[in-house]
Amino acid sequence: MTPTMHTFDGVDLHALAARLPTPFYAYSANAIRQRIAGLQSAFQGLDHRICYAVKANSNIAILQLMAQHGVGADIVSLGELHRSLAAGIPAGNIVFSGVGKTAEEIGAALAVGVWRFNVESVDELQLLQRVAQLQGVCARAAARINPDVDAGTHEKISTGRSENKFGVSIDEARRWFAQAGSMSHVLLDGLHAHIGSQILSLVPFREALGRVEAFRQELVAAGHVVSSVDIGGGLGVCYRHGHDQPIPATEYAALVREVFADFQGTLVLEPGRYLVAEAGVLLTRVIRVKPGVDRSFLVVDAAMNDLLRPSLYEAWHEIVPLHLDPREVARYDVVGPVCETGDTFARDRAMVRCEAGDLLSIGGAGAYGMSMASTYNSRPLVAEVLLDDGRHAVIRRRQTMAEMMAGEQLPQVWNEA
Ligand SMILES: Cc1ncc(COP(=O)(O)O)c(C=O)c1O
Repeated sequence: MTPTMHTFDGVDLHALAARLPTPFYAYSANAIRQRIAGLQSAFQGLDHRICYAVKANSNIAILQLMAQHGVGADIVSLGELHRSLAAGIPAGNIVFSGVGKTAEEIGAALAVGVWRFNVESVDELQLLQRVAQLQGVCARAAARINPDVDAGTHEKISTGRSENKFGVSIDEARRWFAQAGSMSHVLLDGLHAHIGSQILSLVPFREALGRVEAFRQELVAAGHVVSSVDIGGGLGVCYRHGHDQPIPATEYAALVREVFADFQGTLVLEPGRYLVAEAGVLLTRVIRVKPGVDRSFLVVDAAMNDLLRPSLYEAWHEIVPLHLDPREVARYDVVGPVCETGDTFARDRAMVRCEAGDLLSIGGAGAYGMSMASTYNSRPLVAEVLLDDGRHAVIRRRQTMAEMMAGEQLPQVWNEA
C-alpha cells in the first residue's frame, strides 16, 4: 500500500522539509523519552545513576530532555561540561571521562562540583591530587579499568583491549588503590570500565563486567572501599533492519544484576547511542541522478561533513525515499557533494527509483551524527529540529556563512614568535 504521509513523532516530514531547507536533522523527543524510561525501568530497584554520554548528541535541547528525566552526563571536555550545565544537568550528576584531561579542565570541573572523575592514567591521578589540593577540595575518583576484552565491534569504536589507549590494567589499578591513602585530596573509591560502542552481544559485557566485579571483591577483601562502579555505555542499536539485533535493556539489566549481586554501592551507566541513535533522522534531497558505467549515483545534498559514520566506519544507515507515488526498484550509490570518494552514504543500495528533488530520510542518525559534523568543504553546519507529538521546534538553526567564518581574519599584525 502506498503511504499517504511520512510522519515522525506525529510530524509530517514533507511539510517540515517544505519549511526548512535540507539537509537537517530531526529528532523525536518521544523516542528519546521511551529509551530513557525503558532503561530506568530495567534498572528499577538497583542503586544506579544514568549519565548520558554527551558526545553522542550534545545539542542542549537533547541534554535538557535528559535533565528533565533525571539523567546526568558523562563528559569528556570543558565544552561538554558547559553544555550540560547550560541544559540544567546538575554538576553533582556529572562524571568526567577521557584520557587527556588537562589541569585547566580538572580545575574547572572541580570548581563547579562535578561528581566524579574517571581516571585513566597515573599522571592524571597525580594531577587530580595537585589541582584538588590547590583548590582545597576533595576530588572523587574512579579508576578506569581496561579489562582487555574484545567487544566484537568496529575497531575504531573498540576501547577495552589492552592495545587501546583507554584505562589501565587491573595490576596498575591495584597499585593505585594500595597507595590511595597517601593522596590527601583525592578519594579513590570507584571503578569504571567502558569497552566499546555498538555492542550487540552480552558476551563481552559479561566478560568485562565479571573482571571488574572480581577486582572489586579483591579490593574490598583488602580493606578498600568501593562505593561506585561505572559500567560505561556501549549498548548497540538497530541500524540495519533484519540484520542488527540489539540487546534488550531488560537482558542487559539482568546481566548487571547477576554480576553485581554482591555489590552494595551505586552503579553508573553511560549510555550514549542507545538513548538517541534511533530517535534521529537526517533529511536530505536528491540534487541529481548521475548515470555511471556500472550503476547510477544518487547525489544528495547531505554529505560526509554532516554525517561522518558511513565514511569513517563504513556504517550502514537505512536510506528511505519519502516520495509517495509508487515506483520500481533501482540500485544506487548514494553520495554527497564533498570532494572525497569516501563521501558515500551507501553503495549499490536497492531502493525505489529517485528523481531530483526527492526527499530521503537517513535513519539511525541521532547519535554521532551532528556531534561529529564539521564544515569540511566550507559547508555550514546544518539545522537540528526536535519533534514532539506533532509539533516541531528548531533547536539549532543552520549556520550562516558569516558564522562559519567567524573567528577567521586576514593577518593584521605580524608578531615574532
Ligand atoms: C567513556 C565512555 N562512556 C560512554 C560512551 C558512550 O558509548 P555509547 O554511545 O556506545 O553508549 C563512550 C563512547 O565513546 C565512552 O568513551
